[in-house]
Amino acid sequence: MCGIVGYVGREEAAPILLDGLSKLEYRGYDSAGVAVYGAREGMQVSKAKGRLQVLNDLIRGGETVHGTIGVGHTRWATHGAPSDVNSHPQVSENGRFAVVHNGIIENYAELREFLQSIGVQFVSQTDTEVVAQLLEYYYDGDLLMAVTRTLHAIRGAYALGILCADCPDRLIAARKDSPLILGFGDGAHYLASDVTALIKYTREVCWLEDGEIAELTADHLWVYDAYLRPVEKERHHVDWEISAAEKGGYEHFMIKEIMEQPEAIRKTISPRIRNGEVVLDDLKLSARDLEEMDRLYIIACGSSYHVGMAAKYVMEKLLRKPVEVTLASEFRYCEPIVTPNTLALVISQSGETIDTLAAMREARRLGARVISIVNVVGSTIARESDGVLYTWAGPEIAVATTKAYSTQLAVVYLIALYAARLLGTITAQEYDAILAELQRVPDKLEQILNHKEDIQYFATLYFNRHSMFFIGRNLDYAVGLEGSLKLKEISYIHSEAYAAGELKHGTISLIEPGTLVVALAGYTPLFEKTVSNAVEVKSRGADVLGLTTQAMATALKGTADHVIAIPETHPILLPSLEVVPMQLFAYYTALQRGCDIDKPRNLAKSVTVE
Ligand code: F6R
Repeated sequence: MCGIVGYVGREEAAPILLDGLSKLEYRGYDSAGVAVYGAREGMQVSKAKGRLQVLNDLIRGGETVHGTIGVGHTRWATHGAPSDVNSHPQVSENGRFAVVHNGIIENYAELREFLQSIGVQFVSQTDTEVVAQLLEYYYDGDLLMAVTRTLHAIRGAYALGILCADCPDRLIAARKDSPLILGFGDGAHYLASDVTALIKYTREVCWLEDGEIAELTADHLWVYDAYLRPVEKERHHVDWEISAAEKGGYEHFMIKEIMEQPEAIRKTISPRIRNGEVVLDDLKLSARDLEEMDRLYIIACGSSYHVGMAAKYVMEKLLRKPVEVTLASEFRYCEPIVTPNTLALVISQSGETIDTLAAMREARRLGARVISIVNVVGSTIARESDGVLYTWAGPEIAVATTKAYSTQLAVVYLIALYAARLLGTITAQEYDAILAELQRVPDKLEQILNHKEDIQYFATLYFNRHSMFFIGRNLDYAVGLEGSLKLKEISYIHSEAYAAGELKHGTISLIEPGTLVVALAGYTPLFEKTVSNAVEVKSRGADVLGLTTQAMATALKGTADHVIAIPETHPILLPSLEVVPMQLFAYYTALQRGCDIDKPRNLAKSVTVE
């Protein structure tokens, strides 16, 4: 959802900015731009609609712009259609200020009206131009004062990078509700929306908090609060491998990340299992906290919400406590019933999704204790949680999530086992059986991935269908939701997921010859019920692709046209295995259709606007 970068140092800035933007392109790819200041050249702004490559070609990889300070931007359009003029950096009327922005300025219309009333000429339709013009309006020779006045005037979410032609030795960064990371280099400082843009240059970083402003020169970095009082920042070392953010021989990040899942799950669960016990000290939850818990809210968006759907079945079964899964964007505005005994579990890969962050803050304001499952270390959700469990999936670059989903789910199982043990709602035998099976999940995933060509074959059979449905019951339904989302977001095929028993209450009227129904029937206790629903759609002309365990495959073959068989596991762990064929099916279908798999249209990975 827009990515920003900034560099000030002794090297040519443009190639560094372009390289940083290439790591952030997953955040938006409607347009890109840079502003670089050179002692002889002055302020040079280059921007273009389209992928970063268009900008790259325009400035010949940075050769045509010179200077050792600059900011850059890759855009996911909100206000103002994708176009050259609406691309960032946005520049003040006289060219003194160049601004890159991730977020939305909510009161931009009234500010724009005011500025126009005093004669300021706007050239774009963006909310960001208001920031550039306001900086100019407030500027009286004191850059930091102009910045604080501007920040006091705007409302909304922002991560800002500001370059001022009058102060060409320094960059200004500011944030509220959008991520912003500062990097410490050797005679250089950096700013970026995401650590992946920085790790090639530095692993020493700090996170800017809401309301903070940073001033960066080649040799110094100062951070202030909203009233320009100095703030001490703690430096953190980032140990992500650079290779984790590169394709490593795969055609797409998505397939690379699918293949990384066994290892990502091992890394996520192994350090938390000691002597046959789940150890989750980071959660800071006691048996008493759990006994007194009146309700567990699971709050998330998109695929993370789908993990929450699976978690509801798992947690209610093992903990015998009410679990409510809520879309973060709904939670905020639904007057949720929260007491001091309510626990909120927030799930987010990026740790920056604005709806999830806002819902989490609302839960906390209403008195809930908040724990989270997050992939990005140091992200806002992680920092603001009472307890955080990281998924050690490494950077996830493909817009469609895969390994983050799988590791989130693995953490859900750990929490469920840990809490059930504390509550005494699980027998020792059941606990040991599930935990032992959880540790076998990575090996079983490897078995599935070793036969990925089978799934590719099914994709070649069905890739040209207009409409697909995913049906299943209980945990199979939860996985169907994710399978359907994965398919539609990268292949653009219309797709819906339904609880298998619900289809006949209306949606079955959409089934016609040629419709593909993916019937998830791994959950053995409800196998026959789901098969009956598959028969219902088959008899109305649908083709059925079944998914079940090896033991049930023959039984399903009687109904389904083709069957994907996964290894046996404990029924509660099925989603961990089932989701991978669904990811592969989506991937190969999109590949067959020639789609831009890692960067699907209209999407961005980190959704930092409401
Ligand atoms: C889908 C996908 C999204 C995210 C959602 C939440 O493949 O990746 O649906 O799951 O935008 O993002 P996080 O988990 O970062 O809060």
